[in-house]
Amino acid sequence: MLETLIELDALRARVAGWKREGLRVALVPTMGNLHAGHFSLVELARARADRVVASIFVNPTQFGPGEDFERYPRTPDADAAGLDAAGCDAVWMPSVDTMYPFGIDGTVRLVVPGVTAVLEGAHRPGHFDGVATVVARLFNQVQPDLAVFGRKDYQQLAVIRYLVRELAFPLEVVAAPILREADGLAMSSRNQYLSAAERPRAAAIHAALQAMRMAFEAGDGVEAVERMAAARLAGEGFDVDYAVLQRADLSGPARRGEPWVALVAARLGGTRLIDNLESGS
Ligand code: PAF
Repeated sequence: MLETLIELDALRARVAGWKREGLRVALVPTMGNLHAGHFSLVELARARADRVVASIFVNPTQFGPGEDFERYPRTPDADAAGLDAAGCDAVWMPSVDTMYPFGIDGTVRLVVPGVTAVLEGAHRPGHFDGVATVVARLFNQVQPDLAVFGRKDYQQLAVIRYLVRELAFPLEVVAAPILREADGLAMSSRNQYLSAAERPRAAAIHAALQAMRMAFEAGDGVEAVERMAAARLAGEGFDVDYAVLQRADLSGPARRGEPWVALVAARLGGTRLIDNLESGS
């Protein structure tokens, strides 16, 4: 039976009790509006730990001006029902005041260098600092033994790994595979912003990623592969932020014979979608 926790003392008491019993605790951080992709993270956490806490917090510090913070879908009742069915033990739903007791302007913010300078970090300035700021707080609040993050947010996962190492959080980061709709569209809470006409076209992102893999594996150069993908998506009506083929650690263009990742961020109408495809996946 899912327990809903909204006060920090109650969360701490529950987790401390589990730890006294020697149980391993997993955290699945989310912003709510949960779908099958999130529930697969909970199931992975279940398989790796004795108790699972999912957090739901739409984090204001990771949204830029003009982004979708206000309209980000909030569906706590459906989320709780889904978490219960997925075998989650507790949902941590802090208020903004609990998360940021000195207000947003009084927040101690983390600034993550390096991996945040490119791609999502370049297109959404401050986004990853906001993610790191809230995730560090979630780690301190829940004190999990492991935390599960989805591979769809590829760069976010790199930021979290950096954060955990840099601040020596005593926990394991577990990466969960991307869950896709039947036509290949990666599951995302933002998919529901797509109109009925846009929804089938959105699958073109996954098709473009697969075309990038085929072209690179057939011997095309990185720049040619990137140009092909951007042109293909533009031809489908997308406004492309980037379509790139990078080394797996995002340190630069892919090199043949080494692990790589293809990443796309593109807008369809008012909806910005991201997706990626890793070599060997
Ligand atoms: O991936 C998300 O949903 C968010 O960025 C996270 C990790 C929950 C932090 O707010």
